[in-house]
Amino acid sequence: MCGIVGYVGRVEDDGALDVVMEGLARLEYRGYDSAGVALVTGDHTSTRKKSGKLANLRAELEADPLPPSTTGIGHTRWATHGGPTDENAHPHRGGADGKLALIHNGIIENFHSLKGSLLNRGTVFTSETDTEVVAHLLAAAYEQHGELTDAMRAVVADLEGAFTLLAIHADQPGVVVGARRNSPLVVGLGDGANYLGSDVAAFIGHTRQALELDQDQIVTITADSVTVTGFDGSPAEGRAFEVTWDAAAAEKGGYTTFMEKEIHDQPHAVADTLLGRTDADGRLTLDEMDITEQQLQQIDRIIVVACGTAAYAGLVAKYAIERWTRIPVEVALAHEFRYCDPIVDDRTLVVSISQSGETMDTLMAVKHARLLGALTISVCNTHGSTIPRESDAVLYTHAGPEIAVASTKAFLAQITACYVLGLYLAQLRGGSFADDAQAVMKQLGEVPDKIETLLGRMDRVKEIAGFMADTRSVLFLGRHVGYPVAMEGALKLKELAYIHAEGFAAGELKHGPIALIEPGQPVFVIVPSPSSEHGLHGKVVSNIQEIRARGARTIVIAEEGDEAVEPFADEVIRVPVTAPLLAPLLTVVPLQVFALWLSTAKGLDVDQPRNLAKSVTVE
Ligand code: F6R
Repeated sequence: MCGIVGYVGRVEDDGALDVVMEGLARLEYRGYDSAGVALVTGDHTSTRKKSGKLANLRAELEADPLPPSTTGIGHTRWATHGGPTDENAHPHRGGADGKLALIHNGIIENFHSLKGSLLNRGTVFTSETDTEVVAHLLAAAYEQHGELTDAMRAVVADLEGAFTLLAIHADQPGVVVGARRNSPLVVGLGDGANYLGSDVAAFIGHTRQALELDQDQIVTITADSVTVTGFDGSPAEGRAFEVTWDAAAAEKGGYTTFMEKEIHDQPHAVADTLLGRTDADGRLTLDEMDITEQQLQQIDRIIVVACGTAAYAGLVAKYAIERWTRIPVEVALAHEFRYCDPIVDDRTLVVSISQSGETMDTLMAVKHARLLGALTISVCNTHGSTIPRESDAVLYTHAGPEIAVASTKAFLAQITACYVLGLYLAQLRGGSFADDAQAVMKQLGEVPDKIETLLGRMDRVKEIAGFMADTRSVLFLGRHVGYPVAMEGALKLKELAYIHAEGFAAGELKHGPIALIEPGQPVFVIVPSPSSEHGLHGKVVSNIQEIRARGARTIVIAEEGDEAVEPFADEVIRVPVTAPLLAPLLTVVPLQVFALWLSTAKGLDVDQPRNLAKSVTVE
């Protein structure tokens, strides 16, 4: 939530505004309620800020340009304290002389009491934000210390909550100071220029060399230096890494929206997540795993913690991992996990799933699990992010940058990574399934081509979405691994098309939800493969008949060759045949495509739906 950019170049390189605006454009998916920039210009800082999307700030800058500068910060906001107005947009100034400017991501939990003290001293506030409180404190600390890094250190000592702060001061041109606690900040290392960003997308157009920071650290950048210290002043070093994707990966590549592009990236996302997971003998290896094999052999319980789409990936994983390992798997919404007094010990493996690696609820769940003695593995898409660093081990998904707010390719990559984890555990523990792991890896290896085939057949789904622009409610039914897929289909529709949508376990229908069915009600049904065990296929076909008899309009997602669904389906969308447990990697694709085109048919912003932000870094 909130995108943050900082930049310092050499004296001859005075294009700070362009660099900061380019970074903001790449980070806009993190928040788009308002945007602003501040530059060091002569003996003061100059700011421009505007409510609404970045385009409004661009227009403001055209109407009222800023002078050249070597040093700047920029912010794109997801509002927490104070509405999305020009006044509440960042940067905020501190002090009376207009020399200091500050941007912030996160929440300062004790801002009320800090603001009270400032008001008593006569400080005048121009916004309702918690950020402005910090700006005034920092300006006062600068007066006292005469140096921005020292001032920042003094101020963070009094702050509670989660925050990333970036500040500039006109008396120290050529310096940006950042601080982080439980909120993202990475450093980009350039040649004669350095960068700060909420994530590497902020500077990917300029450098792929980056530095991870730890919690409670302050970083000071100039054009030629990067200095990291702890909040207590102790010297520290960031961890260098190279970003594995380039600027082109963060662009639309000819598609009209990032979401459409990312849906089409899915074959690669799955294939890349499978890369390098088997040794020469075809045995699974997970070289990013820092937990010992002995520890993993002893686990007797797995808890997946995640939010939203990532939690649905966890629900799919539950079916697969339990089946393959016979270890009980529970899926907990990360924001509930901490507060339900979870039963966890050193034989519990807590698997967090997070695309961003920054979701505060998930991060807190991981920290809590570790405190209770659990082993923690992070399934994550973002190198340099916080959750992997706070975990005992990490299994990276290789989906590449996901820019659209609605998650698509990350979901498929998360499911894939969880399958790999399940197979790895099965092999390690040597149960009855261990020998089949290689066969499943082979089936998984065939999935990317099947997704490609499926994507080539989505014209009808697009047409159906086009007809349904006025639809007010859509239901989704699934069973077994199709159940989380149904919930994911509903979530995509809610967040992108703003219409009522619900996903149900098909077996639950007769226990209440069937009362919602009235003539014309559209219902997507994810039909299990006819090869599924326990006669699940036949049971879901019966469910289709039951709702059809009550007037539902049925849009059925069924395997190629499954003729049994034909008589009861208003529409049939065919997916290639695959192993029943792997089917979510295919069946969810038409639902993503449907949400994409329904949102488009309604004229909505597909990539930046209202009220949302990509990375939820506040609780
Ligand atoms: C929905 C969506 C969200 C995220 C959730 C977790 O399309 O994107 O539900 O899945 O906010 O985010 P991460 O995976 O970054 O922890």
